[in-house]
Amino acid sequence: MAAGDSGDAVAKVLAAFREEQARGVASRSDFERLKGRFLGREKGLVPALFAGVRDLPPSERAALGARANAAKVEIESAVAGLGEDLARREREARERAAAVDVTLPGRRAPTGGLHPVTVVRRRIERVFLRMGYSIADGPELENDRTNFEMLNFPPEHPARDTQDTFFVSKKAKSPLLLRTHTSPVQIREMSRRGAPLRIIVPGRVYRNEALDATHAAVIHQLEGLVVDRGISMADLKGTIEEFLAALFGPDTKVRFIPTFFPFVEPGADVAMTCIFCRGAGCGKCKGSGWIEIMGAGAVHPKVLENCGIDPEEFTGFAFGLGLDRIALLLFGFPDLRLLLEGDQRFLRRFAFES
Ligand code: FA5
Repeated sequence: MAAGDSGDAVAKVLAAFREEQARGVASRSDFERLKGRFLGREKGLVPALFAGVRDLPPSERAALGARANAAKVEIESAVAGLGEDLARREREARERAAAVDVTLPGRRAPTGGLHPVTVVRRRIERVFLRMGYSIADGPELENDRTNFEMLNFPPEHPARDTQDTFFVSKKAKSPLLLRTHTSPVQIREMSRRGAPLRIIVPGRVYRNEALDATHAAVIHQLEGLVVDRGISMADLKGTIEEFLAALFGPDTKVRFIPTFFPFVEPGADVAMTCIFCRGAGCGKCKGSGWIEIMGAGAVHPKVLENCGIDPEEFTGFAFGLGLDRIALLLFGFPDLRLLLEGDQRFLRRFAFES
């Protein structure tokens, strides 16, 4: 190679480099390509210049070597500058991507809510706590004696048929069963605490039922029991009217229809003004304007006696209602089974009820 050619080659490489440098590098791959094109050990244009110098006669080598070296220094330092600039831009892009935009609206963390049956239970508890009742509790695994016998259901009495039962063990002296109502807690509390007494008993109960929109096998009841001197059916009616008005609104009317429960005498099915048609008659109340809501009555003297309370001195009233059916009425949904399925789309509706 002649010296002139080599000198041209240095100038060409420098010119090509400056052109690229002026264009700048947009990305890391752009940068790597540029760096490889000029400084690459194998095929880079700058190392190639030095190969050219080696081929020259010794007299020309020094001058050309100096020019090639100068070009190398310039290109290396410019490439380093481009690399630093690229790294700075990359860091800035990363920081921009990671930055929190404080002007964006917040994301609400999903919070739990109360189950509709719990909402109903707590609303009812609040009404009765205001009236001076206290809350009592009892076991879900009961014995036949407390669930039935002490409540005046004799062993083969047909009244048992209305509460088809899950027996756990028939071997025990008094067979063990899942309680079919909250009424056995009447027995436990009267036997333990005597009279006077004023309690409500919320709790889970079990029945061997054919399931449909208004019948479940695991349900929730709330029992009420008052025992004192001079308690009458008038007290029961006043209490129930007050309670239903507090829960469903002041224009709610109440009707007592005589019925039979072995542990009360007299016994009544309590109905209230249909909340859907306000008494006019609709599909929900089968045109009657009334909806049955609970069982109630005056505590049977035999039951008081069974618990060691003198029925000549004390009288009482009791009532029992289904919380699941009240939830259904209060919140207006079509099927009791929704309460047991844990479907968030249904339960979310109640997240802000208390
Ligand atoms: C009783 O359980 C009596 N212990 C109530 C009582 C207490 C009467 C005190 C007198 C004095 P009954 O079987 O009717 O009664 O049930 C009471 C309420 O529980 C019903 O009104 C209903 O709301 C609810 N209930 C009963 N069975 C089911 C069921 N399978 N699914 C949904 N709710 C039910």
